[in-house]
Amino acid sequence: MTQSRIGFGLLGAGLVAPFHAKALRASDRTELIAAADIDSERLAKLTREFACAGYSNLDEMLANPAIQVVNILTPNHLHSDAVLACARAGKHVLVEKPPAMSLREVDGMAAACAAASVKIGVVLQCRIRKPVQAMRQAIQEGRFGKIHHADTYMKWYRSTDYYRMDAWRMSRRSGAGVTIQQAFHYIDLLQYLVGPVKRVEARMNNLAHPAVELEDTLLAFVDYHCAAQGVVQASTALWPGTDIRIEINGDNGTAIMIGERMDTWKFKDERPEDAEIRHYGSAAVATGATGAADFSFYDHQTVIEDMVDAIRTGRHPMITLESARPTLEWALAMYQSAKEHAPVDLPIRDEDAVW
Ligand SMILES: NC(=O)c1ccc[n+]([C@@H]2O[C@H](COP(=O)([O-])OP(=O)(O)OC[C@H]3O[C@@H](n4cnc5c(N)ncnc54)[C@H](O)[C@@H]3O)[C@@H](O)[C@H]2O)c1
Repeated sequence: MTQSRIGFGLLGAGLVAPFHAKALRASDRTELIAAADIDSERLAKLTREFACAGYSNLDEMLANPAIQVVNILTPNHLHSDAVLACARAGKHVLVEKPPAMSLREVDGMAAACAAASVKIGVVLQCRIRKPVQAMRQAIQEGRFGKIHHADTYMKWYRSTDYYRMDAWRMSRRSGAGVTIQQAFHYIDLLQYLVGPVKRVEARMNNLAHPAVELEDTLLAFVDYHCAAQGVVQASTALWPGTDIRIEINGDNGTAIMIGERMDTWKFKDERPEDAEIRHYGSAAVATGATGAADFSFYDHQTVIEDMVDAIRTGRHPMITLESARPTLEWALAMYQSAKEHAPVDLPIRDEDAVW
């Protein structure tokens, strides 16, 4: 028996919207019903290219009964209100990263979705990549021994024109700083692999974008609960931009992912499957180092297909809001630390002081 396609609506027709639209078009289990945006030109371009309906606001789109899931693709500070409206309308939600700007918002979103019995998943698609999954399994199996270091290095470049594209990209309060915007994926990977975090000490600077009032560079030391330490380095000031690195080093093993490719995979207990894992990923895949739109839609498709499975089987989506909360808390703690010029212990005491 063939099942009918799940209807999706996109809130936001900006930069990331075509990736969602292409993923929905590529799946034979989903249908893009409509998009909504306050910018009529962007909306017209997207609805023309992907042959879907268009609405000038969320409420009108939510009234369309063919839409079962809404993907929230608006600027970061607008995610929370949109999720609450979707929950009230009984729609499932896939929210782009970061899920919100505060833990209070995240908790409100979780409560609203639970009360309305709708599912909420977060688009943190880097988690599902094969090198990341291999690292996670090796950690769970104890193959690294005692983990000493877990680091990420994101040395990217964004021009001032990138920041000038939209007002929100120039606003720290809208979540456009490198820590909560670009680096959120890689902080999330460290949280997913080695977290939770106990203490952070961060320094933030604006090295190359004097026209915008936010940090384009982050340097932080991290103490994890598991006793490992680490470094988070992230920047959009470093021309021309190079692939991100995730590095895990322990007593008994080291793994390094560069971009989407496993670069180093070495353990004292070498196993037959290690030869294949060393070839995971491809150096040819663009990963966003030099431009905001140079990545593929395949990972978004996996996240969307997972939402379809979650709806059909009644299980939770694989990337839950609950699992993204500690990543947000870690990012907020780094903002607080940079502001106070002092280490910050988690859980953070006063998130209102962060912004
Ligand atoms: N998962 C990823 O790899 C990835 C990649 C890029 C962006 N993102 C995330 O996606 C989100 C959007 O980013 P973007 O680069 O597409 O931003 P964008 O500014 O290009 O697009 C946002 C769109 O939202 C619209 N909008 C603003 N307020 C609205 C409202 N009240 N109602 C309807 N539409 C409204 C704007 O007009 C704009 O077209 C952000 O949260 C960002 O962090 C995620």
